[in-house]
Amino acid sequence: MSLMKKLVGILMVASVVAVSGVAYSETKAADTVKDRIAPVGKICMSGEPCAAAPAAPAGSGPKTGKELYSTVCTTCHGTGVLNAPKFGNAADWGPRAAKGLETLYTHALGGFNSMPPKGTCAACSDDEIKGAVKYMVDSSK
Ligand code: HEC
Repeated sequence: MSLMKKLVGILMVASVVAVSGVAYSETKAADTVKDRIAPVGKICMSGEPCAAAPAAPAGSGPKTGKELYSTVCTTCHGTGVLNAPKFGNAADWGPRAAKGLETLYTHALGGFNSMPPKGTCAACSDDEIKGAVKYMVDSSK
């Protein structure tokens, strides 16, 4: 083998290594870009297996009737502000309870005279408000 042929052979091997090296790093780079531009969230179609929804942060779950009463409704119902029926007072709540829970729910959700809709807790769910109504009614029997 002449020196020239040897040199050509070495060069060819070297260029193959070089080319495959480039190809390799390009693939890697493409993967990184794909990772970087990947959507943050994924839409989950019905029938497809989905990743579990992230757990709700502690304390953000629905409030119990008692919790809601003692954070929101007590402002007026604790002492009877604006003649609100007082908590635990059977004389105040008796005639109200006689209207039936459904009516009280409707009034608590939509407002009733000086009773503001949802007792001012616009962010509260209907079920949370109903829970607070039931808690007040039950506590005044
Ligand atoms: C800004 C004061 C205020 C807050 C806060 C408030 N209420 Fe009231 N609520 C009243 C007043 C005043 C009445 C009496 C209205 C009337 O009978 O004219 C009342 C009445 C009610 C009644 C009786 C309705 C009826 O038909 O007799 C319910 C039930 C009730 N409130 C639920 C709630 C709940 C549940 C909350 C908390 C989520 C709440 N309220 C927060 C003022 C308030």
